[in-house]
Amino acid sequence: MKTEKLWHLGMGDMQILPGSRHRPPMKKPIWIIVLVLFVSMFLICAYVYPPKDSLGCYVFSSSRCNGNADWLPPVTARLYTDDEIASRVVMRDILNTPPVLSKNPKVAFMFLTPGSLPFENLWDKFFQGHEGKFSVYVHASKTKPVHVSRYFVNRDIRSDQVVWGKISMVSAERRLLANALQDPDNDHFVLLSDSCVPLYNFDYIFNYLMYANVSFVDCFKDPGPHGNGRYSEHMLPEVQIKNFRKGAQWFSLKRQHAIMVMADNLYYSTFRSHCQPGLHGKNCIADEHYLPTFFQIVDPGGIANWSVTHVDWSERKWHPKSYRTEDVTYELLKNITSIDVSVHVSSDEKKEMQRWPCLWNGVQKPCYLFARKFTPETIDNLLQLFSNYSTP
Ligand SMILES: *[C@@H]1O[C@H](CO)[C@@H](O)[C@H](O)[C@H]1NC(C)=O
Ligand SMILES: *[C@@H]1O[C@H](CO)[C@@H](O)[C@H](O)[C@H]1NC(C)=O
Ligand SMILES: *[C@@H]1O[C@H](CO)[C@@H](O)[C@H](O)[C@H]1NC(C)=O
Ligand SMILES: *[C@@H]1O[C@H](CO)[C@@H](O)[C@H](O)[C@H]1NC(C)=O
Repeated sequence: MKTEKLWHLGMGDMQILPGSRHRPPMKKPIWIIVLVLFVSMFLICAYVYPPKDSLGCYVFSSSRCNGNADWLPPVTARLYTDDEIASRVVMRDILNTPPVLSKNPKVAFMFLTPGSLPFENLWDKFFQGHEGKFSVYVHASKTKPVHVSRYFVNRDIRSDQVVWGKISMVSAERRLLANALQDPDNDHFVLLSDSCVPLYNFDYIFNYLMYANVSFVDCFKDPGPHGNGRYSEHMLPEVQIKNFRKGAQWFSLKRQHAIMVMADNLYYSTFRSHCQPGLHGKNCIADEHYLPTFFQIVDPGGIANWSVTHVDWSERKWHPKSYRTEDVTYELLKNITSIDVSVHVSSDEKKEMQRWPCLWNGVQKPCYLFARKFTPETIDNLLQLFSNYSTP
C-alpha cells in the first residue's frame, strides 16, 4: 500500500489517491509537502548541475552524448617516454618562435654527389647575376670534385661516405644542413643531386621557395610492400605504423624546419637503429622514410607533401627514367613544368593513386622547380635550351 502511494505521488497525482481518505487528516499534508519539496529540489538541482556519467554524457539528456565524447582522451592514448616529452617541447618551441628575418635572405643550394657535378656550367648560368641571394654547398661522398664554375669553387664541405639506403645518406643530408645553417642569411635549404637541373630561372625559383608558407617534403602513406612493408615494430613506441610515411629524399626546407631536423636526436636514432636494408627482415630505406615520418609526427601541416624535384617513375622499373640526349627537348621540359597535380601510387597490387593539386599558399601552381635524372651527355642540349625553357 505504501509503495503504491509513493509511486502515485511520484507521478504528481496527489488529489485522487484512493487510500488517503482514511488517514488522519493532519498527517497527510506535511508528508506530501515534504516529499514534493524534496522532489522539486532534486529536479532543480538536476537542471542546474546536470550530472554526467562516466562517458561524459548528460544523464538526463541522452541526445547530447555524442557531441561531447570528443573532448575525452582517446582510448588508445599512451604515456610518452621521457625522450618524446623532451622532443615535443623542443619542437613546439621552435615552431612557436617567430623566425628571425634576414635583411638579405638567401637560398642554400646543397648538392649531394659522389664527385664532380656534370651540370656545373648550367648552374653557373642559372646563378649568374644573382650574387648575394644564394649560397652553394657540395657534399662529395666519393671523390673530390673538380669545379669549373666560380660559384662552386671552395664550396665543398667535409664529407663522408654514403651507402645507398643506409642512414649514412641521412647523415650526409644533416651534414649539409648543419653547414648551410651556419650562415644566418640562409632561409631556405634545397637538397639536389648531381643529376638535377633547374626548370626555371633564378628569380622564379627564389620567389617560389622564399614566399611559400610550407617546406616541400614528399610524404604519403603507402600501405604496400615498399611503404608500410618496410616498417618494423622495433621502432615502437616513438614511431607507430600510423605515422610511418614514405617520400623521395629531395627536400626543400624552411629554416625553422631545418633547425628542427638538427634538433632531432630521438627519431634519427630510432631510424639509425631500425631502418636499414636487410635489418629485421625488412628492406627499410632510411632516406625515403626518416624525414617524411619525422614531419608527419612533428608538423604535418607544415609540409607540402610533394617534392619540388621531378622524377619520372612512369616506366615502373626499379630506377626512375634517365633522360638521354635525344629525350631532352623544349617539349619535354615544358611538359614537366606544366604538371600541377602531385601523384602518388601505392606499391601494393591495388596500385592506388593519390592525386593532390599542388597548392602554393592556397593557389594551384606548377609542382616542380627542378628535375632529375639527366645523364651528363645532355649538358649541351640543356645549355642551349635553358634561356628558352626557363622563362615561366
Ligand atoms: C600533408 O598531409 C598531411 C596528412 O598526412 C596533412 O595533415 C597536411 O595538411 C598536408 N599538407 C598540406 C599542405 O596539404
Ligand atoms: C608531352 O606531353 C604530351 C601530353 O601528355 C605527350 O603526348 C608527349 O609525348 C609529351 N612529350 C614529351 C617529349 O614528353
Ligand atoms: C598556407 O597558406 C594557405 C593559403 O592562405 C593556408 O590555407 C594554409 O593553411 C597555410 N599553411 C600554413 C602552414 O601556414
Ligand atoms: C624557344 O622556343 C620556341 C617554342 O618552341 C621556339 O619557337 C623558339 O624558336 C625558341 N627560341 C630559341 C632561341 O631557341
